Amino acid sequence: MKRIVVFTGAGVSAESGLGTFRDSDGLWEKYRIEDVCTHEAWLRNPQLCVDFYNARRKDTLAAQPNAAHIAIAKLQQELPGTRIITQNIDDLHERAGAKDVVHLHGEITKLRSERNETATVPLKGWEQHYGDRHPDGSLLRPYIVFFGEGVPYFDEACRIASQADIMVVVGTSLNVYPAASLIHYAPEHCPIYFVDPGKPEFGMWADRITHIREKATVGVPPLVEQLIAEIKN
Ligand code: APR
Repeated sequence: MKRIVVFTGAGVSAESGLGTFRDSDGLWEKYRIEDVCTHEAWLRNPQLCVDFYNARRKDTLAAQPNAAHIAIAKLQQELPGTRIITQNIDDLHERAGAKDVVHLHGEITKLRSERNETATVPLKGWEQHYGDRHPDGSLLRPYIVFFGEGVPYFDEACRIASQADIMVVVGTSLNVYPAASLIHYAPEHCPIYFVDPGKPEFGMWADRITHIREKATVGVPPLVEQLIAEIKN
């Protein structure tokens, strides 16, 4: 069975009402990364970080999976070898029915130990109260990979990408490393479909990429139907 790897960014959740980061109305146009998404920010003003991610969590809980999330989950149900890797911290892939999603930049529905980057606890509801502690005794913080921090699941993501027969990339500007380098781990023979209305910089990869210049809810469902038909028949 052919192995499909789906790699998503903020664009896949844009039509669910969750902001992207670098579009004209993106989150980093409204907030400074150094105030809310670095380890120094956490040490300098943890309450501001908690408030920022509480607001993100409230938005996420109010959002619904869109037709792209639903199509990607269907792809995995129809072709069980399909793996999903996301840069997104929302849980919309899971709420659409996707399984074993690899979150490279953390998960908004969990908190983590300040001491151990992968020691997480689930958070019920939208509000973290700064000062609550992890069972290991350290302060709890948002389970988000801040800029400059290590990406704990990147090696696993590279291993998955290196075994892909087909890669589908949805809604990422390919601006943030090491996540953006994931497409470079796809084997030579692996075609890459890229669904994004924008024009991310493909560089030397342009000739290997089929760019479907559509929004996720327009471009992903027909691509999923095409792949299911090609592989199952
Ligand atoms: N459908 C598909 N793609 C879309 C849509 C849509 N409806 N709307 C916007 N996009 C595309 C944009 O054209 C852009 O290429 O989504 C991409 C969003 O890019 P970014 O805002 O940079 O988001 P992303 O690539 O996921 O950022 C990566 O940066 O700030 C960090 O940790 C954060 O995970 C994030 C990482």
